[in-house]
Amino acid sequence: MSRDVASIEGLSVAFGRPPTQVLALRSVSLTLRAGQITGIVGESGSGKSTLALALIGLLPQAARVTEGAIRIGNQNIAGLPEARLRAIRGARVSMVFQDPMTALSPSRTIGGHLLDAQHRDRASGRSALRTRAIEVLRKVGVPDPAAQLDRYPHQLSGGMRQRVAIAMALLGRPELLIADEITTALDVTLEAQILHLLRELRSEIDGAILFISHNLGAIAEICDQVAVFYAGELVEEGPVRDIFHSPLHPYTRALRDCDPARIEGAARHLPSIPGETPVVRAPPTGCIFAPRCSLATELCRTKVPVWAAIAEGRGVRCHLAVSKT
Ligand SMILES: Nc1ncnc2c1ncn2[C@@H]1O[C@H](COP(=O)(O)OP(=O)(O)OP(=O)(O)O)[C@@H](O)[C@H]1O
Ligand code: SF4
Ligand SMILES: [Mg+2]
Repeated sequence: MSRDVASIEGLSVAFGRPPTQVLALRSVSLTLRAGQITGIVGESGSGKSTLALALIGLLPQAARVTEGAIRIGNQNIAGLPEARLRAIRGARVSMVFQDPMTALSPSRTIGGHLLDAQHRDRASGRSALRTRAIEVLRKVGVPDPAAQLDRYPHQLSGGMRQRVAIAMALLGRPELLIADEITTALDVTLEAQILHLLRELRSEIDGAILFISHNLGAIAEICDQVAVFYAGELVEEGPVRDIFHSPLHPYTRALRDCDPARIEGAARHLPSIPGETPVVRAPPTGCIFAPRCSLATELCRTKVPVWAAIAEGRGVRCHLAVSKT
């Protein structure tokens, strides 16, 4: 089993205060391993971005970690002061967002951004930093990289901007690269290219990749391990084959079964399941999925299912699934 790069242990995160608080993550545990791409899938509001922001120490002011640990290597970063978190960001954990302009300033050249991204290595000298910037641009598939250094973000296409944002994230040599819906705004062809790039990076970076997506096809195509989230809970986790071929949780099955073709195409998005993801403001008293679950029983409505670990990296949170295993 490869090295643990990061782990979330029993993490709960709330936004705001009662009675209007949102319990955005509840008792989530997940381990990210070197050499693996872990996919996170779940409907809007399931807590995917909250988990990503917790891992990079960027939770918004309104968020509170109410329990649990966020470990990068052996260090628990939950509650660390901003100055310590800043040292971890970029160096140990990097993140790429849906909109590459989140990371790019319109008034700075691509070269300027790529030099800034290497500020920890500035003792190496400008020419070495420039050479490395060109190398990384080439690695992420930017054509004629030297010529791009003098250009501004608006002179690049959306796909090229996203590649530059990935290059910036790689320049810090992170152990954990987080990609939050990075292909959502791209067309099918560009999306396929970025997915291919992530797959290549998986074997090149000595670390882990966390890939968040609504797109089941993309998850099926590039991930090794998959974590399924629903309304702030991890409801199922397993190797990608198990999740798509022998899912245990009714929610995972519903996602897959809405249209089996969806996991084949790279441009498809989450199929819709009747009903809506609830916004959770108080600890649930039964299974959070029960109102939408066709298999719900009285037990489901009155007792919260606990996480059942079935094997290393394989687990489920469902009364029925556990009684069958
Ligand atoms: N800054 C905030 N203040 C208050 N509530 C928030 C904040 N950010 C997120 N939330 C709430 O936390 C829950 C989880 O949100 P999160 O953004 O993590 O979901 P997500 O799975 O990333 O959704 P999407 O697919 O839409 O990106 C939602 O109910 C959301 O409304
Ligand atoms: S615990 Fe019950 S309601 Fe919840 S997913 Fe399992 S069967 Fe459905
Ligand atoms: Mg999100």
